[in-house]
Amino acid sequence: MVSRVIPVDPFDLVIFGGTGDLARRKILPGLFRRFCAGQMPNGSRVIGAARGEMDSAAYRAFVAEAIAEFGGGRACEDGTLDGFLERMEFVTIDARGENGWSDLVALMRDDVVRAFYFSVGPSLFGDLAERLTKHGLTDADSRIVVEKPFGRDLETAKALNRDLAKHFDERQIYRIDHYLGKETVQNLMAVRFGNMLFEPLWNSQYVDHIQITVAETVGVGGRGEYYDKSGAMRDMVQNHLMQLLCLIAMEPPSKFDPDAVRDEKLKVIRALDPMVPHHIVRGQYEPGADAPGYREAVGDPRSRTESYIAMKVGISNWRWAGTPFYLRTGKRLKARSSEIVVVFKELNHSIFGEAGEHRNELSIRLQPNEGITLGVTIKEPGPGGMRLMNVPLDMSFAEALGPDGADQTDAYERLIMDVIRGNQTLFMRGDEVEAAWAWTDPIIQGWEARGDVPKTYDAGSEGPVDAVQLLARDTRVWRKVAP
Ligand SMILES: NC(=O)c1ccc[n+]([C@@H]2O[C@H](COP(=O)([O-])OP(=O)(O)OC[C@H]3O[C@@H](n4cnc5c(N)ncnc54)[C@H](OP(=O)(O)O)[C@@H]3O)[C@@H](O)[C@H]2O)c1
Repeated sequence: MVSRVIPVDPFDLVIFGGTGDLARRKILPGLFRRFCAGQMPNGSRVIGAARGEMDSAAYRAFVAEAIAEFGGGRACEDGTLDGFLERMEFVTIDARGENGWSDLVALMRDDVVRAFYFSVGPSLFGDLAERLTKHGLTDADSRIVVEKPFGRDLETAKALNRDLAKHFDERQIYRIDHYLGKETVQNLMAVRFGNMLFEPLWNSQYVDHIQITVAETVGVGGRGEYYDKSGAMRDMVQNHLMQLLCLIAMEPPSKFDPDAVRDEKLKVIRALDPMVPHHIVRGQYEPGADAPGYREAVGDPRSRTESYIAMKVGISNWRWAGTPFYLRTGKRLKARSSEIVVVFKELNHSIFGEAGEHRNELSIRLQPNEGITLGVTIKEPGPGGMRLMNVPLDMSFAEALGPDGADQTDAYERLIMDVIRGNQTLFMRGDEVEAAWAWTDPIIQGWEARGDVPKTYDAGSEGPVDAVQLLARDTRVWRKVAP
């Protein structure tokens, strides 16, 4: 399998927060891999920007360290690093003050694509947008990239959208949800809309229910203080799980075009049923043998923030009415695993009587071991009559497509190149984000008003017992959380 590299125009990419954790771990190593793949044309530059005093030589050393530490060189040949580092510049700049802006103006060129990555906290988005235009750094073709979290509720998301809209057109704004950049997440669309096989069955007539799981083994780690202000609902459900739900549930867009896709996703969010409390289970992990429990990790013995959430979600539209979507995500669970499982209905009539299982399950594994498994019913081999069994038709992308077929391209590198190409398909539109918050807000407000306390669960388990009951009440079971 040879990966194809789509050429992009030369660019100046400014990373505000160019010395931050995200830049170090994801953005810079990702850019380096694109450079190695030949997708960073001559004349393209990356300009780090932050308040800390540093010259471009020191920034190049910083970038080299980031690449050494976070695996950017995986696909590169010796000697390539220097060529990449030559394209790095740095300006000391304060998003909230006038310091450094004239240096950036002097550095930028007119004849290349200009992109500005806001890899800083959202409280700086408005300041950056304002100063960029005030200093004449943008034109109608310039793009800005903004990181999550995009607000913490509807009101703050609207305020951010308003701040950005004062200076930029929606088609210039790239709101990142890095889940959308994952190879396997895009495969959801390929599987659904590139095969005749599935789409005719993709509705409440044939689908019993759908499970979406994003399980992590890590706890909150060093992000305790930040995490405790958001919780699994804000950190994972409102954005990542919502995006997965949209891709699974949306109507086929008329074409693979940014607004056609995003229009369909928006319709799904708007069709979500309001949640009722007994359809949600929240949890907090207990101390493990070698790690603190949630409350200790966030430094608040009375914290009511959830590190786990499971929910039963309904979509009121023609396609999905009556088919529940069960969503769950949590930290310190048994295995790191992200998976979507479409569980089809039992046969309405079996000519084989009680001879075996007749239920098909389509599992799309996002990580690890990306691939697709379809459970099919076959005859149990050998004599002994017509006995049936369910076997997996299993495709691991790595095995089927060779080493290049596995998810080699990190979400960030794909998304950054999409920004340069001017393709917004894999980015969230402002109305989409607001609709997601509009659905999420009343849920969180309900917990706060009632003083809901999350259930506890053992570190290394599959989550709280109540989550098992959430499905058991509907005579269903969760898939095992397994790697
Ligand atoms: N880290 C992740 O894995 C991750 C994942 C998803 C989303 N995000 C989001 O990405 C953004 C950046 O996260 P991060 O983890 O990289 O944060 P971080 O490690 O705290 O870095 C923040 C960066 O912003 C710069 N900065 C802070 N105030 C500034 C100002 N007034 N003017 C100019 N630069 C300023 C900092 O440098 P100076 O202090 O020198 O100015 C630093 O380079 C946040 O919104 C975060 O929520 C991060």
